[in-house]
Amino acid sequence: MSSASLCDACCGVDGRRPTGAKRPTRTAAPSSIGTVTDTTDAQVDSTGPLGGVAVVTGAGAGIGAAIAAALVEHGTRVVVSDIDADAVARIAADLGPNAVAVPGDAADLAVIERMVDTARERFGPVDLYVANAGVAGGVGLESTDAQWRSALEVNVMAQVRAARLLVPEWLERGAGYFLATASAAGLLTQIGSPTYSASKHASVAFAEWLSVTYGDRGIGVSCLCPMGVNTALLHSGFSEGSPDGAIAAAAVTTAGAVLEPKDVAREVIAGIERGSFLILPHPEVLEMYRGKGADYERWLSGMRRYRRVLEQGAAAGGE
Ligand SMILES: NC(=O)c1ccc[n+]([C@@H]2O[C@H](COP(=O)([O-])OP(=O)(O)OC[C@H]3O[C@@H](n4cnc5c(N)ncnc54)[C@H](O)[C@@H]3O)[C@@H](O)[C@H]2O)c1
Repeated sequence: MSSASLCDACCGVDGRRPTGAKRPTRTAAPSSIGTVTDTTDAQVDSTGPLGGVAVVTGAGAGIGAAIAAALVEHGTRVVVSDIDADAVARIAADLGPNAVAVPGDAADLAVIERMVDTARERFGPVDLYVANAGVAGGVGLESTDAQWRSALEVNVMAQVRAARLLVPEWLERGAGYFLATASAAGLLTQIGSPTYSASKHASVAFAEWLSVTYGDRGIGVSCLCPMGVNTALLHSGFSEGSPDGAIAAAAVTTAGAVLEPKDVAREVIAGIERGSFLILPHPEVLEMYRGKGADYERWLSGMRRYRRVLEQGAAAGGE
């Protein structure tokens, strides 16, 4: 591949809309979540991902809950889903009549079908699927097979199964939008956690593949890759009392700012409006990714050095 075509390929990061993807048009945005227009049960013609019908997984807390709230604020009707049934029921109640909860495991095809069917029955066909549910997984090489399976199921296969269900319908309609929440760890690495690193790389790779395969047939794809965000996953997802768990969390909290979920949601809305593939709430991730691509060996030795510093910090903290 020539450097020009490589550059063309990477230019998705500057926010060009995928060829053929519909320009999202907003319906009148309500002034606040509490005052959304009641369009429950209305089969409104959708016009694009924002202002249409969305599914958000892992919406019971953190980034998913914030994305769901931002979508509703932008006139989108949303099915919110989470494995934590109580949490997602509370979120739906808070969001009002333009949201409905479907509890369940985002990796379970029957649950994905239920989300899509519920969306269609209550609001209309799904325009936007936000595959956001994720788990931190194991730490160290001693991560168990069960932890590998869980990371691959939730962080990757949940996204694959949703796309497999929705893309054929979107191709017929000539429009649809898939947003995968991966992580900066999917472009770089997650110090301490092989399961998170590998599964998030797979999530980025699958989203790339979707974009390459369907991006000129009306299907938009975005891949959200934040570093630290102030959620339960960051604060307790990796802490298993092991040194690698502490290092994994410290690697994220010391690498850059820890953002609030609502800040990430704002970037998600802007990224969908632009039709950007990469959505990077921490812009420095792009520089880090360029550094990795420019000199892999140097990047690896820099990461080993960073890991040693974190290890020394964890050892000093544990004394
Ligand atoms: N917090 C961060 O620093 C950070 C950074 C980069 C990427 N991410 C990614 O953002 C996404 C959201 O995580 P978060 O930080 O908001 O964490 P969070 O723990 O606040 O929220 C994750 C939600 O997903 C739900 N969930 C877990 N497994 C599920 C499953 N199998 N099916 C359905 N729901 C499930 C949880 O119940 C929880 O409500 C994840 O994919 C995560 O990997 C987080």
